[in-house]
Amino acid sequence: MLIDGKKVADDIKAEIAQTVAQMVAEGKKRPHLAAILVGHDGGSETYVAHKVKACEQCGFTSTLIRYEDDVTEEELLEAIARLNADADVDGFIVQLPLPRHISEQRIIEAIDYRKDVDGFHPVNVGRMSIGLPTFLSATPAGIMELLQRYDIPTRGARCVVLGRSNIVGKPVATLMMQKNQPGDATVTVCHSATVGIKEICREADIIIAALGSPGFVTADMVKDGAVIVDVGTTRVPDASRKSGFRLRGDVDFENVESKCSWITPVPGGVGPMTIVSLMKNTLLAARHDIYPA
Ligand code: GUN
Repeated sequence: MLIDGKKVADDIKAEIAQTVAQMVAEGKKRPHLAAILVGHDGGSETYVAHKVKACEQCGFTSTLIRYEDDVTEEELLEAIARLNADADVDGFIVQLPLPRHISEQRIIEAIDYRKDVDGFHPVNVGRMSIGLPTFLSATPAGIMELLQRYDIPTRGARCVVLGRSNIVGKPVATLMMQKNQPGDATVTVCHSATVGIKEICREADIIIAALGSPGFVTADMVKDGAVIVDVGTTRVPDASRKSGFRLRGDVDFENVESKCSWITPVPGGVGPMTIVSLMKNTLLAARHDIYPA
């Protein structure tokens, strides 16, 4: 059966909008999310546009700050310093990836961790890994929310995570093994140097695919009744579309769907949940729920 990330995301945005309306009625300011976007990468443009639209739906103020590809690291660091100091901005993100001449790590560490609603700063990553309240990075948080809302049992389940990125693979593996609900799973992380991926996947009750390799998870890798979470969003050429492309996940959906108990579609699965997790973090930041003012 399909896990409808779009519907869950719409429900949560409506809940957030209600909370914000109440805050405003009490005389508080609207939550304010800022985003820095460098260059014109198609995927990044789309993600940021979705984030700005989600802010409107939630009743947040949003600010988009754009730079061309030739922006210097110095200029970006100055923009970050301004946002750190701007009392009206509750949280902000720098859309990744950045051009190669800029150190993503230096940029991430320049963000005040109290405004790091992406949850990428080492303070927030560290707090997550020891189970403290924090800004959870958006995609892993969205996945956990879906598992929770669909009552998918994770305790003692065998969970295979494909991919070890800092943004998805590592944090989602951490959350799945955490003593929590959802969580408490036995987690295996597979990556480009893993030997015997097919055999490992066949043992899995839950597969979380986050490698960015379209159609990688095939039917012969999936146990009957497994739960599949597809994080892939690769643009593949499609002449029948106006845009000339469509999004393809890391799972061979057509052949895998009938084998599993639950599966997230692409698009409409994890993607909308990622955006909504960012909105949840922005609300937490505005209310100083993680870090007191
Ligand atoms: N690039 C891909 N995913 C993300 C994300 O969640 N946040 C940011 N800032 N950049 C991304």
